[in-house]
Amino acid sequence: MHVSSKTSFRRVIVVLSSAVLVTGGILLLKVLLKSEKIRTIKFQLQRGKSSLLLLVRSLFRAVVVFVSKIFMNKQKSKALEEELLIKNTEDVVNTLGNMKGALMKLGQLASFIDDGLPDNMRETLKQLQNQAPPMSYELVEGVFIEQFGKTPNEVFKKFDKVPIAAASIGQVHRAVTFDNHEVAVKVQYPNIAKTIEADLANIDLTTMLAPLLWKGLDLKSLVDELKVRLLEEVDYANEAKNQQMFCEFFYKHPFINIPKVYFEYSTSNILVSEYIKGSTFDDLVNWSHREKNMAAETIYRFSFRSIYRLKAFNGDPHPGNYLFHGNGKVTFLDFGLVKLFNDNDLKLLTDIWRYALYEHDVQKLREAVEDAGFLMKNAPVSTDELLDFIDVFVALVSKNEDLEVTRQYASEIARRVLFGRATHKEVVKYANIPSAYAILQRINLGLIAILGSLNATCNWRSISEEMWPEVDGAPKTELGRLEHDWWNSHKQ
Ligand SMILES: Nc1ncnc2c1ncn2[C@@H]1O[C@H](COP(=O)(O)OP(=O)(O)O)[C@@H](O)[C@H]1O
Ligand SMILES: [Mg+2]
Repeated sequence: MHVSSKTSFRRVIVVLSSAVLVTGGILLLKVLLKSEKIRTIKFQLQRGKSSLLLLVRSLFRAVVVFVSKIFMNKQKSKALEEELLIKNTEDVVNTLGNMKGALMKLGQLASFIDDGLPDNMRETLKQLQNQAPPMSYELVEGVFIEQFGKTPNEVFKKFDKVPIAAASIGQVHRAVTFDNHEVAVKVQYPNIAKTIEADLANIDLTTMLAPLLWKGLDLKSLVDELKVRLLEEVDYANEAKNQQMFCEFFYKHPFINIPKVYFEYSTSNILVSEYIKGSTFDDLVNWSHREKNMAAETIYRFSFRSIYRLKAFNGDPHPGNYLFHGNGKVTFLDFGLVKLFNDNDLKLLTDIWRYALYEHDVQKLREAVEDAGFLMKNAPVSTDELLDFIDVFVALVSKNEDLEVTRQYASEIARRVLFGRATHKEVVKYANIPSAYAILQRINLGLIAILGSLNATCNWRSISEEMWPEVDGAPKTELGRLEHDWWNSHKQ
């Protein structure tokens, strides 16, 4: 391809700036690694040098696109993006593999431990999340031909070639069906499912995570559980089934909306659902305090209503997975990571609440924590030490009063889960996260962070009491009253 010297010069500037950004990121990482608390990770990172190099390469590529937007005019920036477009299957595998997933996770992690990260690093990570290279239309067409033997324009009355959003392992296009329904079409990168499956089979997460997490963790079963859920996440047919289950459960809900799935157009790598127009999380952040509170209350209600009544948890509370419509009305997207519970899993959880919050029986609380598998039986840990460790997890619902969830509180919880070893060395020698509750940790590493970034202030205890089946509390808020009426007509 012919490149003018002016463009080359601009390109050099972009590449140099990108290098500076990436190097800056790495230097920051080094500074972080020197910190006493996480020195142990260093060794593991050195061992994973080759995967780190791959990650840096992906970071570099994404940063090139990001920086190009700052230094180039729109047209040039578009041309560069065009060049970085993923054009063929080999490209997908070479550029992405599981690295895009790793990038996304890195970006997401940054929001959980927000307070602990330098501003510029957090911002860079946030940008990286949004700047994944899109696939060319030809590639999208290839996926359709493989699945339906037809092009998108034959399957739909109208299909927008330019994607409306990036998905973690694909992208989303807008289309109109022949019977005039507007739909969102999520198309997976070709062969990405196979690549991730292979990556997951080879990656030694247990060794990578071991020095970080609680010493008592049964890491093998935890990692096995994560792998099973991640494999489900790459299967859009499974996601379609999950989405439909939530859609039916929340049918006619006054403020919780789930887009309907169009099964006739959906396959294992194409997911078609009702197109919903709404405001994004970034928009919501600038809305009034009242709006933010109501949206947060809805997100909270959605999570716990589905855990305790549908016995299912959508394990991906991520800002990109909501659309906001005002007055607390929220559309929930993305049902790739769903964990189903049985009655016993839930009873063990509600027992903990009962002894901690209602019966105030410390001994029984300890037994309940042990029965659920969070603490080894007969662990040489005093009950006071245990209470001190779990205090942060019950703080949200311990008092029947309004409480503001701050970013700081969210970070504190995330740190207790991820780095509990630094603050509660003795307890975490015997503490475990049973695999059944692994995905539920996304409450501590996701949902709370979302509430924190909205500075949401609600009486979380009284809302939870409406959700806990054993309490079945009366509604105390505007949204609670609306939901109460829905629930009464819904459960018959
Ligand atoms: N039904 C829909 N209506 C409107 N936008 C949608 C719809 N489904 C997905 N999107 C857009 O596509 C993005 C990615 O979709 P999502 O299902 O979250 O993918 P992933 O599972 O990869 O995270 C969403 O953040 C949203 O912007
Ligand atoms: Mg998503």
